[in-house]
Amino acid sequence: MRFQTLLTSCLLSITLVSAASLSGRQVDIETQSLDELYQLALAEGGDLIVRAGGDEKNQQDGLVQAFKTQFPGINLNLTVDLSKYHDGIIDRNLNLTGKAGVDVTHLQTLHDFVRWKQECRLLAYKPAGWEQIDDSIKDVDGAYVGINYFMFANNFATAKTTKEEAPKEFTDYLDPKWKGKIVSTYPNDDDAVLFQFFKVVQAHGWEAIQQFIAQDIQWVRGTATPIAVMSQNNSRAVTFTTGTGFSDGSSGFFQQLPEDDFSHIIIWSQRAAIFETAEHPAAAKLYVNWLLSTERQAASGGWSVRNDVPQQSGLAPLSDFAGKLDPPAFERFMLDRALVERYKLQFEQLLGTAQGLSPLDDDL
Ligand SMILES: *[C@@H]1O[C@H](CO)[C@@H](O)[C@H](O)[C@H]1NC(C)=O
Ligand SMILES: *[C@@H]1O[C@H](CO)[C@@H](O)[C@H](O)[C@H]1NC(C)=O
Ligand SMILES: *[C@@H]1O[C@H](CO)[C@@H](O)[C@H](O)[C@H]1NC(C)=O
Repeated sequence: MRFQTLLTSCLLSITLVSAASLSGRQVDIETQSLDELYQLALAEGGDLIVRAGGDEKNQQDGLVQAFKTQFPGINLNLTVDLSKYHDGIIDRNLNLTGKAGVDVTHLQTLHDFVRWKQECRLLAYKPAGWEQIDDSIKDVDGAYVGINYFMFANNFATAKTTKEEAPKEFTDYLDPKWKGKIVSTYPNDDDAVLFQFFKVVQAHGWEAIQQFIAQDIQWVRGTATPIAVMSQNNSRAVTFTTGTGFSDGSSGFFQQLPEDDFSHIIIWSQRAAIFETAEHPAAAKLYVNWLLSTERQAASGGWSVRNDVPQQSGLAPLSDFAGKLDPPAFERFMLDRALVERYKLQFEQLLGTAQGLSPLDDDL
């Protein structure tokens, strides 16, 4: 009923073309090549404004550099901030000016995309390769699409422990030998981390959380911060609230999956969307098509969101982890804001409010 009302008000306020697209018809998959889209983006003026979710200012430097190298003349202005703050800025822009103030956003706050679609804020658009992307991580009408899988899993500092010794199952972290050696992001500061702890509560109960807290955890803000802490000469050796990809360990960190219990591991696909009010729609389309291109997907490592791009060599296909890794589960959690709020406050009560500077400013 509520959705119907929103959709109706939506249909009244937007153009006929978009209205048709919102009802699930008539959005053709992009057929232009990246080079054709590039020419259109240059002709449009060459500007592109993106807001990307993340917790370190330099986190997307590699992506920006790769885009600028491939598309000289497109002035990509990409701002990294916590997804939970980007969305508020965009909402205020929409309220104050009627425009999002940004062409494309990719965020962890998956519930925003569902709401923005209902509010008719998103352009219905299907980039090239659309049919290769699993239905569970894209919008049927083309309002938003998963661009990359993110995973938080067991990570350890190779200088401090070994593959064999490092904890893999959640209960391994409760072993007294890890006391004082764990660093973890506050679950009450990041909803993805909260989902990890929520799943642990479901699987092991609150007693396990109390035992974990009693392990003298170093609690930090940001999911890249555990890596920065473990790089230092200190006792902190292990974490499960970060993702380092499946590297060979030469970076000083090694990521591994559990054998049985995946309760503390999460995976989701970061969502991207183009706003209806995008002031640089051609550049926005170029950017989204490039993110989803087979070349870019293959270069990103791990599992691709495209079925026609194989996972990183040495890694089993994602479908082999059915029942253990469940990408759509995070969206269901994020959509249940009452549940999220309740758990966030449970952890705030146990741990206190998240202490420290924003992870973007903490020099860690
Ligand atoms: C890039 O975008 C940010 C946020 O929208 C804005 O504050 C900044 O001035 C822009 N930078 C340039 C060089 O346009
Ligand atoms: C902005 O927010 C105010 C207060 O909620 C609301 O009355 C107004 O309609 C909003 N304007 C737009 C353009 O969304
Ligand atoms: C690490 O810290 C310890 C204790 O402060 C010190 O003895 C040791 O020399 C340091 N190691 C390195 C490699 O800096």
